[in-house]
Amino acid sequence: MDKKQLEQILVLIKPDALKNSITGFIFSQLSEFHTGARFAGAKVVNVTRFLAEEHYAEHRGKVFYESLLDYITGVVHYPEEEKWRRRVIAIVYQGPDVLKTLRAIAGPTNPHQAREEKPGCIRALGTVVPIKDANGNVVDSRMDNLIHTSANYEDAEREIKLWFVPHDIPPLMRAYPTEICATHYYYKDGRLYGTYEPESSLLLAPGDVVWKTDLEILQSYARNKPVKGKLNAVVAKYLINKN
Ligand code: GTP
Ligand code: MG
Repeated sequence: MDKKQLEQILVLIKPDALKNSITGFIFSQLSEFHTGARFAGAKVVNVTRFLAEEHYAEHRGKVFYESLLDYITGVVHYPEEEKWRRRVIAIVYQGPDVLKTLRAIAGPTNPHQAREEKPGCIRALGTVVPIKDANGNVVDSRMDNLIHTSANYEDAEREIKLWFVPHDIPPLMRAYPTEICATHYYYKDGRLYGTYEPESSLLLAPGDVVWKTDLEILQSYARNKPVKGKLNAVVAKYLINKN
């Protein structure tokens, strides 16, 4: 398959889209017949704060950051009694020009702007909610915009590797190099272990297929060498839906 065919992006169908039951509409808008985009991977994810912080790392510290995390983790749309409903659908789409095509169908980030500039795009169905401080003053806004699409191919690679292990994607559809892991890796409270620690999570076992760049990060981390990447970004996907 040539490189163009292998272009991939991450799409997230966010909690507001699930709550309002417009998933069918979104899938239909993005369908292969209309866009040439094929499914390479898909999963239902209960988004933890751990994963959300990694996904939105670039926005850390901004006024809207906390509300953005509450939104993507489902806290905004589903109360405590319904926390089992807090999910997003994560999809890897693949195909020629998939980034440009799907981002155009999603539309501008701000739903008000989306309605004005691109009626008919998915985000035109979203909403903008004021964020207030403790005194009730409006300090920013939260954009409930239904869908996420990777902004460029560098982000796409980071995001796909953050949400998906190679095993989630059929071997012939994987866009990034993989390797076979030869050792055990366990994780607990921000630390990596080579042998089981009580209450640790098993990330990888010998024979597992792993993104090459992830394995390099784990190996450097385990050997106390300078790490080219974030441990949490490697770990997050192995903890998806674990508990
Ligand atoms: P995504 O596809 O969701 O990533 O949106 P995007 O690529 O159009 O925007 P970006 O990645 O820059 O931001 C991620 C999310 O943060 C957006 O969907 C918005 O909900 C929120 N956001 C980004 N920039 C702003 C901003 O300037 N103000 C506010 N209030 N929210 C923002
Ligand atoms: Mg973005």
